[in-house]
Amino acid sequence: MTSAHYAPAEPDPAKVEAFAGRMLDVLNSASIAGLASIGHQAGLFDVMAAMPPSSSEQIARAADLDERYVREWLAGLVTGGIIDYDPATLTYALPPERAALLTRDAGPDNLAFFAQYIALFGTVEQKLLECFRHGGGLTYADYPRFQALQREETAAIYDASLLERTIPSIGGLAQQLTAGVEVADIGCGSGHALNLLARAFPKSSFTGYDISEEAIAAARAEADQWGLTNATFVIQDVARLDLAASYDFIMAFDAIHDQVVPRTVLANIRRALRPGGTFLMVDFNVSSNLEEQGGHPLAPSIYLASFFHCMTVSLAHGGEGLGAMWGQQKALEYLAEAGFGNVEIKEVEGDMLNAYYICRT
Ligand SMILES: C[S@@+](CC[C@H](N)C(=O)[O-])C[C@H]1O[C@@H](n2cnc3c(N)ncnc32)[C@H](O)[C@@H]1O
Repeated sequence: MTSAHYAPAEPDPAKVEAFAGRMLDVLNSASIAGLASIGHQAGLFDVMAAMPPSSSEQIARAADLDERYVREWLAGLVTGGIIDYDPATLTYALPPERAALLTRDAGPDNLAFFAQYIALFGTVEQKLLECFRHGGGLTYADYPRFQALQREETAAIYDASLLERTIPSIGGLAQQLTAGVEVADIGCGSGHALNLLARAFPKSSFTGYDISEEAIAAARAEADQWGLTNATFVIQDVARLDLAASYDFIMAFDAIHDQVVPRTVLANIRRALRPGGTFLMVDFNVSSNLEEQGGHPLAPSIYLASFFHCMTVSLAHGGEGLGAMWGQQKALEYLAEAGFGNVEIKEVEGDMLNAYYICRT
């Protein structure tokens, strides 16, 4: 039926009423996210978590911020049910149960951190609208804060789980790393994962590849600061990585789905592995089937990131535009095509977002 012949049914008033409630909730939640993004960056949640119920003046002083702005921010989050207010004493408080999910001390559980992405993506909205109309995409350079946010996000995950949970979940790997092997990180970003490994396993050598000069500079700076002599970082487009049998272990954290040519990158990784080597691909833990994705607690949020960034940076260069929600079934298909027939999928405690694909040659 064409739209010219389609006559929509009259809306059911009760359903309209119910949906109005849902949409108001959406708008209020998005507004709380905007305030949470500022609160995280200004350090307000951290300051409040360490204070008894306090006045806006006391909170502003402790955070070294302008009181009027702080008071408006507090009021917004009082109405949003995030901060408690006592009108008798004119004091504000952040209860510990909420601080546990809003402060830097919460590490990877800090959900206020993620609110920053919503603000970041807002900065490219108009450019993205042009992509809807004319195709194409946006490049990494269109997101000036992306590398910094990515660094903050994944460093918390790596600090919490890389050495204690991720590496031990791959049978035999810790022993190999202790004895001394060669390791590569594909799309290493700011290199924190590789630097943690290099510090923990001094007999192994580690090479991180990323196309971003900013990310590689941050990775090298951390390696220098830690005095590492076994970590090297290279500015390199991994679609052009032409190495044969060079590494015993290769990892790619959140770095395949936004590739321009993901099949080529996976084939390059397969070729660069030595016989008996292992490839660890970490990517969003979702089904490829849309009808099964709704159950994921962060599905719309991952779609937002995909739409505003992951899919879009691939399309910018005429790429596949796989998107962050490509999911397990498609990932296994791509891995098999690259020559990884033997893949085990694991989840790692402390990382609520990702599936860990352990691929053996
Ligand atoms: C989502 S970030 C993940 C970074 C890092 N693995 C982490 O977990 O923090 C993806 C990274 O892949 C890099 N990247 C994207 N395409 C690339 C390519 N063709 N060659 C090398 N690096 C690439 C980006 O610069 C970015 O740092």
